[in-house]
Amino acid sequence: MTEREFLKSVPLFSRLGEASVDAILRLTRRRRFKKDDVIFHEKEVGDSLFVILHGRVKVAIFGDDGKEVTLSVLSEGDFFGEMSLLDQEPRSATVIAEEECELLSLQRDDFTRALEQDPGMGTSLIQVLASRLRKANHQISTLALLDVYGRVARVIQELAEEEGKRLKDGRVVVRRPTHMDIAHRIGSSRETVTRMMRDLEENGHIETQGREIFLRPDFQKLF
Ligand code: CMP
Repeated sequence: MTEREFLKSVPLFSRLGEASVDAILRLTRRRRFKKDDVIFHEKEVGDSLFVILHGRVKVAIFGDDGKEVTLSVLSEGDFFGEMSLLDQEPRSATVIAEEECELLSLQRDDFTRALEQDPGMGTSLIQVLASRLRKANHQISTLALLDVYGRVARVIQELAEEEGKRLKDGRVVVRRPTHMDIAHRIGSSRETVTRMMRDLEENGHIETQGREIFLRPDFQKLF
């Protein structure tokens, strides 16, 4: 896929005409990051938007004691860094490469100009922001309403919805995150998550094999 085809497949740019996509391409800069590189820190002044060409990043907030809360994991075609450009506030979270990443960066003025010139881009942006708000609401309800067993199950369910594959026998298979990764998503400890995963397995809801988790066919309805 050419860079232009890729940009057209990114929801943020999909409503743009060829000329506008080419203009954006001329304005972006390719940047590579290694696994665990910090792309930017929370509270920094933000002056650019990033689009993920390859790889996966984690959006996280750290408490004063270093405790981490993962807000989201973004992958190919997703963008981040728009909030500081839109509201002129410092970065709302830290973004870290979860694996080797290649990104396109677009400077504040170029982003603002593209938004003003192309109403389609504004519409796409609002759609993505609405879907992120929906997910954040879901996350708030998970934290407020479920016990830790239910929270672990919800994280697995969310992963299954985002990147799971349904098998012929009806089960869903998904990449197994580390217990620490799950703990960061639900404000718990690695040890507690390990216990909850064992309970889920003993109750027959999931089966872990190597780097994968298999979810029983009706898992979505259980939590
Ligand atoms: P910005 O505040 O500039 O820097 C951090 C970025 O993380 C932010 O822009 C968004 O792009 C992204 N971000 C912040 N909160 C969330 C969230 N709840 N879900 C997905 N992305 C987020």
